[in-house]
Amino acid sequence: MKRRTFLSGALSAATASLFARPLWAQESGHAMHGMSGMGEMGAMSGAMMHAQAPLAAADALPAGAPLAALRTLENESREAGHFRATLIARPVARPLLAGQAPTTFWQYDAGTAGQGDETGPGIGPMIDVREGDTVEIRFVNRLPQPSTIHWHGLPVPPDQDGNPMNLVAPGAERVYRFTLPEGSAGTYWYHPHPHMLASEQVFRGLAGPIVVRAADDPLAAWPERHLFVSDLKLAADGTIPANGMMDWMNGREGQFALVNGAREARIEVVRDERWRVWNGCSARYVQLAFDDGRAFAHIGTDGGLLAAPREGVTSLLLAPGERAELIVRAGRSASRARLMAAQYDRRKMAMSHGSLPPTLTVALAQVQFAPRGEAPMLALPAQLRALAPLAPGGSPAASLPQKSVVFSEAMDMHAMHQPGASKSGMPQGMQFMINGETYDPARITLTSRRGEVEQWTIANHTDMDHPFHLHGTQFQVLSRETGGVRADEPYLAWRDTVNVQPGESVRIATVQHAAGERMFHCHILEHEDLGMMGTLRVI
Ligand code: C2O
Ligand code: CU
Ligand code: CU
Repeated sequence: MKRRTFLSGALSAATASLFARPLWAQESGHAMHGMSGMGEMGAMSGAMMHAQAPLAAADALPAGAPLAALRTLENESREAGHFRATLIARPVARPLLAGQAPTTFWQYDAGTAGQGDETGPGIGPMIDVREGDTVEIRFVNRLPQPSTIHWHGLPVPPDQDGNPMNLVAPGAERVYRFTLPEGSAGTYWYHPHPHMLASEQVFRGLAGPIVVRAADDPLAAWPERHLFVSDLKLAADGTIPANGMMDWMNGREGQFALVNGAREARIEVVRDERWRVWNGCSARYVQLAFDDGRAFAHIGTDGGLLAAPREGVTSLLLAPGERAELIVRAGRSASRARLMAAQYDRRKMAMSHGSLPPTLTVALAQVQFAPRGEAPMLALPAQLRALAPLAPGGSPAASLPQKSVVFSEAMDMHAMHQPGASKSGMPQGMQFMINGETYDPARITLTSRRGEVEQWTIANHTDMDHPFHLHGTQFQVLSRETGGVRADEPYLAWRDTVNVQPGESVRIATVQHAAGERMFHCHILEHEDLGMMGTLRVI
């Protein structure tokens, strides 16, 4: 397979002459180094390297503090079955690097707090609600940009889902209202979704967790721990730099993978625990594993519990946007291990031909297992919940209405270097497409009928991994196929995000229940902003 498609003759004289005037290097205020005498591709990668301010050292943030609990969003309603609160998105200065000015994050704070919270974990406060609840969130936008709040994974009405076409202007506010249906218990999150600005708003800190609980949760008595993984790229002067070309192309990965806002926090496990883990990173793949290879049980995905625990799991991949529930056991005697985001090769692209090396393994947390006398071993039920296949029993999925989603990419070297091609540093000629086109708010990519179960095939014709995400519903992965070899998905699970490897086709069964427009996109937020997004019209 060709590494990627270069349009308009990458080595043409026109392009080469554009390099004589380093346009986007000037725009970003940095001198272009090493231009003369280099081949075009070499000049490009040289420019990439110099496009960004020096970063803080990978150990510049303190490690080893006890893991901070996430803040909880307080319910301002006294009515049963009703959750009401205010979320304010605003800049907050947090002292981070010694000897440097405080770092300005953008974060969600509860409307009840007078000022921005600068001491807590910085992750948006957790919305902890129950199936059947009516949720009413007033959103106040104190950012310098338009924004929205998207309720990632939840089946909320389309006009309440923070779609890019429903912007809230700087200084404005709106109320989001929705009711959580039976069966929606699971682990979700919220984040901004304005087109071309989602990546920046998330990497500056805007994201928060949601937990929806079922009345009959079989694990309600278990101690629960929340690990919200976020990514931070921090310059040596304490600022959060804008995306460079490599960030746009591969998705942004900083030098820090934080859990609840902290580097390598310390966790003490004195009895068996239920963990909920969020991958809230723009582009970082989190291959969860303990460094001593110890096993855990995988008990839930995005949309809640599995039918039965998957015991003996030693590594679990969470693509950007994905969540998981785990059982982590205290063990029989004291021990320690580090929780890692282990190396996973998502085939990041180099500007010249070939791939970049995969992101190095990074420690997420230091875990001390210190089982206490009082029966630390809880009995995990063999059955967690009833889970039925979405595609009607026995009927082959091929008889369902079919939808096709194809990821493709093209690098238009010419367009990438046109004057004005780069708005807020966004390279216009770098195309990540769905069904051959980049996102256009005026275009309906696919149309589905309300209540009709469909089979979607998501094919990745690019050379890097892309996590597919569909709004408004949870789906079931049926099978994955690469090179004509098909593997049925080994277990049933509700998901809203699924990774698709290069050359792979993933089949899902899905159904929408409300008429209106839904987004689907790559959850590498830079790719989403560059237009790897489509609109599903549900009629
Ligand atoms: Cu988590 Cu359309 O996004
Ligand atoms: Cu979403
Ligand atoms: Cu992508």
